[in-house]
Amino acid sequence: MKIIVKENYKEMAASCADFICAYINKNPGRLLCFAAGDTPLAILKKLIEMQETGRVNLSSVYYAGLDEWEGLGYEDKGSCMQVMQDNFYGPAKIESERLRVFDGKADAEAETSAVLDFIKDKGGIGLAMLGIGMNGHIGFNEPGTLPDFEGGRVVLSDNSLNVGQKYFDKAQDLKYGVTLGIKTLVAAEKVMLVASGEKKADIIARSLSASNEPALPASYLADHPDYHVFLDKSARA
Ligand code: GLP
Repeated sequence: MKIIVKENYKEMAASCADFICAYINKNPGRLLCFAAGDTPLAILKKLIEMQETGRVNLSSVYYAGLDEWEGLGYEDKGSCMQVMQDNFYGPAKIESERLRVFDGKADAEAETSAVLDFIKDKGGIGLAMLGIGMNGHIGFNEPGTLPDFEGGRVVLSDNSLNVGQKYFDKAQDLKYGVTLGIKTLVAAEKVMLVASGEKKADIIARSLSASNEPALPASYLADHPDYHVFLDKSARA
């Protein structure tokens, strides 16, 4: 595990974008999987700027969705699909054939099969950029998830439901999510975990000092051979 600590969120985002850019330039044709959420937003913006200045061609790779709130689609502000389309796939001009995300309004198990098939067809995940939930979840792999979970419909924890309201412009009555599972994420060639801010310091400290602990799903990444944790100073208490 490599831990990269930057002075602040902006510097962390720049460092992550450089890392992703280098991966894409070396690995055209591979598949990337990006978490939605707030943390990756500046990273995604930076990648788009890099494309605009000719440093990277974001359409030289493929993309798969990580997770989604069951019941929400593009028209719902705060859905993973809306966040990623408006902040990345749209402005980066990624054509629809290059990506497969979860549609939270469709059948969760059928969506999971389709996303997993897309990933397998492209040779597996090359690079996964994951965030961490306040309870240690990655994607929607909630505490208690076992390592052989490939992906599918999950019951969301109260913590994820409460914290998640920050993404929405109106109260959402949610109960389930759909996600790529631990087994699929751990199989990625390269994994990034990104976290920013004091509020993440405790869960980061606990997750990084554990290994394969179901109560802390991010700890399943501990033994990954190519694992990079990007933090800003305040997330590294
Ligand atoms: C969300 C998502 C994750 C995300 C995490 C952190 O609920 N399920 O994929 O990475 O929680 O989100 P944020 O970056 O907004 O803190």
